[in-house]
Order: sequence, then C-alpha cells, then structure tokens
Amino acid sequence: EQIEKGGYDHFMLKEIYEQPNAIRDTYRGRLLADQGIIKMAGVDDNIERIAKANRILIVGCGTSWHAGLVAEYAFEDMARIPVEVEYASEFRYRNPVITEDDVVIAISQSGETADTMAAIKLAKEKGAFVFGVCNVVGSSISRETTAGAYTHAGPEIGVASTKAFTTQITVLTLMALKLGKYKGTISDSDFRFHLQALEAIPQKIESLLKSDKIIKEIAETYKDTRNCIYLGRGYNFPVALEGALKLKEISYIHAEGYPAAEMKHGPIALIDEEMPVVVIAVRKGHYEKVVSNIQEIKSRKGKIISLVTEGDTEVKEIADHVIEIPETIESFTPLLTTIPLQLLSYHIAVMLGKNVDQPRNLAKSVTVE
Ligand code: AGP
Repeated sequence: EQIEKGGYDHFMLKEIYEQPNAIRDTYRGRLLADQGIIKMAGVDDNIERIAKANRILIVGCGTSWHAGLVAEYAFEDMARIPVEVEYASEFRYRNPVITEDDVVIAISQSGETADTMAAIKLAKEKGAFVFGVCNVVGSSISRETTAGAYTHAGPEIGVASTKAFTTQITVLTLMALKLGKYKGTISDSDFRFHLQALEAIPQKIESLLKSDKIIKEIAETYKDTRNCIYLGRGYNFPVALEGALKLKEISYIHAEGYPAAEMKHGPIALIDEEMPVVVIAVRKGHYEKVVSNIQEIKSRKGKIISLVTEGDTEVKEIADHVIEIPETIESFTPLLTTIPLQLLSYHIAVMLGKNVDQPRNLAKSVTVE
C-alpha cells in the first residue's frame, strides 16, 4: 500500500497532487487549442441531438452533483441551453416530467451509484437521450448510458472525492464549449480564448499547490472548531458546497456551504467570534458583492478565511487569512478554488487524527439506495 501511495501519507493527498496531470489526461486528444477545436467522440456523434435539447437535466449524488451544479452555469452561459440539476435520489421518486427532447447527463465517478443508475433507467424509459460522465471505464453506468465521455482521472482510492471532481468539471466544460461553438452562442475568438485558458489550468494548479504551507497554518488555527461556513457566488457557489462536504466527511466537523448572498436570509445568525467562514472572493464574478458579504461577517466578529485572486489588496485588509488564486477566466475558477479547500480539509483531518482515506460510515461507491 505504501508503494501505491507513491510517497504520500494518504491516497487523498496523492490524488489532490495528481490533479494537474489528471486534468491533462482528461483533455488529452480532446482539447486542441492550436487548431481551435474540441474533439469528443461521444458528443461529436450526437451533436445535433444534444444541441437541440429543450433542456439538459443533470443527475448525480454528492460531489458528482456539485460538478453538475458547476456545469449548469457553464451550459447556460456558453451554450444557452436551460439546465436543471437534480439529486439522482430525488429525481427518481418525483414522477419527473421528462420528454424525448430532453438530454439527461448522469455524472458518477464510480459508475456504480445505485440512485444515479435508477435515474438513468427512468430517463431512458421516458425516451430521453442519456449521456454519462464516468471515471471508471466499463462501469455499470457507462454501459447503461446511450453515449458518454470518460474523465480519465485514473483510480481514485480516497473515499473523499478530489480529482474526480475537477476532471468532471473539465469534461463538462469541454462539452459546454463545444456545444456553444456548434450553436454559435460563443464567438470564435472567445472559444479560442477559452481553449487557451483551459490548457493553462494544470500549470496554475501546480503553482497553487505550493501554497500548502499557508493552508497548513490555517488548518492548525481552526482544527478545533465545531462548525464552519463556506460561501461562494456564481460558478463558485458549488465549490462552497464541495468545500463544506470535504470538511464534513473526513474531519467530522459540521460545515455548511451557501451562496454568499443567501447568508443574510438566515445563516448570518450563526456568526460570532467562534465561527470560521471560508469565503471565495476571486476577482471575477460579483466580487464587490462578495466583499460586502465579508464586511458583514467581519462586523459580527466572524473569522474570515478568504480565497482571493493573486494581487488582491481589498480583501486582504479585512480577512484574517487569505489564500491567493492564480488569475483565470471566471468559468474556470472552480478548477482552482477547489484545490485549497481540499487541502484545508485534508490537513484538519490529519491533525485531528482521523482516518482520511476511509472515513467512518462511508464507502467509496454507494451501491444501495
Ligand atoms: C464525495 O467525496 C463522496 N464520497 C460522495 O459524495 C460521492 O461523490 C457520491 O457518493 C457519488 O459517487 P459517484 O460519483 O461514484 O456516483
């Protein structure tokens, strides 16, 4: 097992560090930035059917559902197709309205999740076109779907999903860009610009991983907290949910993610000097509004850990801790902001002596309802 961990203390840490290469593997042969093309066999073969969809319904569970939420922003933004994202477990029991004009995208790392599989079967019965985004090649879900795209993240052993999430976002983003190009909802120059920016992401993650020391210090400061709040907006709202899930599942600290603007509708009542609040405040996307949310937390004495764009000075003055994120276009920021949140949970769990790779009560794939 030590050999399999490749010199890392845990599989989770190894998998966090594998993300630059995992993302390169995801887009290898698909993202041809120089030629200005995206090749994806499963999408190319069905492009008309997918692009003509009345709406896209995304189903998944846990982290895969979070990747679906990021994809909702991307598909609507780039391809102008209405999207709904559903927990597979709710969708299947809701007597959902599905028509033959719908495209259902099922996301699953393992490809074995029972609820996601049941949702696929239901969607197929109703005549929808079902597209799978799986990591495990030959898994049940990859065989049950009509078409699909693998994430090619390589085996993920840690129960807490890390590289599966960022590679799912990569595949779904490629798909959204491709559909946008086909439909003409994204201009040629914008398309090329996005391809180049996406190609630069792995390198930016590599530089981000170097801020591990700062993250470890933050972990040391807050490891004994009993609660934690995560806030983000737009593309980074799902990242806030994912950050909270990571902390819950491996450190057993109660954590909740919210869209930053929702805070004033309830969660703000929780803020006092004992509440750490992780705020994603990268410069793109409602930055000023997030800054005013940070000020609200500050005036209630909450402790602020903020993710900011490199060179930011405004938030630095207010926050207790900042982690700098390399600049990229807004739609790709989740691929970067996710990384420090994974590391923060990892370090806290290790410091608390928890079983990081196999947290209590959890299994890698949930094959029962
Ligand atoms: C993530 O860290 C979890 N362990 C869990 O939420 C997981 O993402 C969920 O069970 C879905 O699994 P799947 O992607 O294999 O379908």
